[in-house]
Amino acid sequence: MKKIHAAITGVNGYVPEDILSNDDLAKMVDTSDEWITTRTGIKERRIMRNGASSDIALEAVKGLLNKTNTNPLDVELVILATVTPDYPFPSTANVLCDKAGMTNAWGYDLIAACSGFIYALSTGAQFIETGRYKKVVVVGVDKMTSILDYQDRTTCVIFGDGGGAVLLEPNEEGLGVQDFILRSDGAGRHYLVQPAGGSLNPASVETVENRMHYVKQEGKQVFKFAVTNMAEVSAEIMEKNQLTAEDIAWLVPHQANLRIIDATADRMGITKDKVMINIQKYGNTTAGTLPLCLWDYEAQLKKGDNIILSAFGGGFTWGAVYLKWAYNS
Ligand code: UT7
Repeated sequence: MKKIHAAITGVNGYVPEDILSNDDLAKMVDTSDEWITTRTGIKERRIMRNGASSDIALEAVKGLLNKTNTNPLDVELVILATVTPDYPFPSTANVLCDKAGMTNAWGYDLIAACSGFIYALSTGAQFIETGRYKKVVVVGVDKMTSILDYQDRTTCVIFGDGGGAVLLEPNEEGLGVQDFILRSDGAGRHYLVQPAGGSLNPASVETVENRMHYVKQEGKQVFKFAVTNMAEVSAEIMEKNQLTAEDIAWLVPHQANLRIIDATADRMGITKDKVMINIQKYGNTTAGTLPLCLWDYEAQLKKGDNIILSAFGGGFTWGAVYLKWAYNS
């Protein structure tokens, strides 16, 4: 029997229409287009005024099912990566299954911050590779504006709202997910965190007054770990699979900072023309960045392309996935 790989057979994304530019932000906090552009590469980000993460996911998934001619009733499992669920419980995957009519599926949320999509993709792939399921939907989505403090210039300029979804199906031609390396280090939890709202610091007048329900980031510390670990794990997955820079068609990096993306590409020996970049349009959408990149670049992807996805985020969590693209669009 041939080995079953989990292939991405479709991708779709969604970002809200409202744009918040760097100049708009400069009217709200002490910042400038020049600072944001040179330090991060971001020019603008999308803002969802009404609705929840499940609504972003719904738009992405509706389009995905439509373009892959998939009956929602045939989807068996939905794994949804997010740090901005609709509620602490029930899971946003449950809400999404209801809204999208995927009523035969079960699903769950996965928290791995900016590495959420690669964690969810690797997990979802297992259900296909074992032969258990034929249709798994993997979503990466965040409505970061729901936890952003627009009085904190160190975080509010970085993040945006958006997300995307992929369909995983079995492939016996050797295409699809080939390998992954996933890591975590909980000692980094204090550097990028939403301190309140969980069981450690349940919501109270005090947590609200102290602005503890917003994202807190020690940017310099996170940068230091991100720039080394994302580059190292990307090089490691290449070496493990005997891939040279020439073998790789695309690097799909988490979109947190153009300088981290450049360092990762340099470490891999990959030229800029093979790196997916859309940070200038959407900023950092946390679990949403990687499927949004695949969606933006889908038309340029060819069957058989070797692709490395890599990410680093809160937790700390980080890792890389090596896959062979399964279709021409
Ligand atoms: O996606 C999950 C993982 N997250 C990341 O990978 C993010 C990693 N970190 C970063 O990308 C960068 O650290 C940031 C973009 C967050 C910050 O860039 P930086 O070059 O590390 O700046 P910094 O934090 O060292 O701050 C430099 C200066 C400070 O002023 P002083 O102390 O030098 O006077 C900040 O107060 O820039 C100031 N600053 C700002 N100035 C204008 C911080 N934020 C802003 C701002 N506008 N928005």
